[in-house]
Amino acid sequence: MEPSPEIQPQPRVPAQAVPARENRAEAAPERVAGYKVFTLGKLTFQRDEYLVTITWPAKGTLQSHTMSADAFLRALMRDVAWGFFYGIVNFDNVVGTRNLYGEVEFFCGRYNETYHRNGLSCVETFESPVAMKRIKEILADWVIEGFDPFAAPLETGSAFGEKRGANPKAIERYRVPTRRMPGLPSDSPLRSEENGYPINRAFADVSQDEPTIEAEPGFEGELHAFNLFRYLSRSDVTWNPSVTSVLRESLFCPTTEEYILPIIHGNDRVEWFVQLSDEISWEITDREKGHPRARVVMKPGDVAAMPADIRHQGFARKRAMLLVWENATPDLSKRYERGELKPWPVDF
Ligand code: PHB
Ligand code: FE
Repeated sequence: MEPSPEIQPQPRVPAQAVPARENRAEAAPERVAGYKVFTLGKLTFQRDEYLVTITWPAKGTLQSHTMSADAFLRALMRDVAWGFFYGIVNFDNVVGTRNLYGEVEFFCGRYNETYHRNGLSCVETFESPVAMKRIKEILADWVIEGFDPFAAPLETGSAFGEKRGANPKAIERYRVPTRRMPGLPSDSPLRSEENGYPINRAFADVSQDEPTIEAEPGFEGELHAFNLFRYLSRSDVTWNPSVTSVLRESLFCPTTEEYILPIIHGNDRVEWFVQLSDEISWEITDREKGHPRARVVMKPGDVAAMPADIRHQGFARKRAMLLVWENATPDLSKRYERGELKPWPVDF
């Protein structure tokens, strides 16, 4: 289960007037344990050896929320790599972002029933590039040498301790853009030893054969196929869906999963999951308040439609292959919001 949110019924800081601030884009100068302190609008982000503390004004007081530095950095890495993703990216049960596609909201307590009901939540809206620039700066300063926020915990060094060095290589590895399918001319490459993708330890038994393509005369170069299991067996990251086929607005985004999805995703559209290998268990709660809805344990071959009005987080004991099928239709989230579409895709 997720840890229960740390609720502060009383403000930690005595009531005080909080000066209204502009959407400041420059970093505050102080450092803690060698790490820069950052601001984004009215929010302050501070990390120390173990923890990240986010502070926001509410009801004339300052509220703060603390989470583990490694969990924060894993979540922030996803937000950076995915361009704020679809809908809501909850870093935990208190803080996160909501994509307005062009603008982005950073919220504290907005989707936490207790904070929100008591008027202690805060939502700040930014133009996406402004917020993206700032969170990239946070990641660049706070990810230390040896820590890879995309890697499974068993495959990375520690996120903890005083500031030492940086890991630009790890944090600049964004989602590989695929226009149609990996391996097509002028599209993203297939993965191999030669281009730096060895087989992951968990997938040593996965066949590495590529399909034979036999096109009718005249159709050479128009038929394409690749071994998706081989492709996934060579993924060097976890919980990072990457596009492997594009058909109009239909995107196949398979990914390899190990340990815990570093965010709790608040869907703004239906997502289909196809479990390709091993097992993932999903905790599903309602999107607005986080009330429990279901636990779904997915085994190879299982298919699930994740509704448009939920948040969910996956848990995988062993590295697992998952196909996430996304619908990138523009304005789809608005159609769900207006109630034009039911939050589930099929009635049985
Ligand atoms: C999701 O929220 O649907 C999601 C996100 C990342 C993954 C898998 C699923 O790796
Ligand atoms: Fe999702």
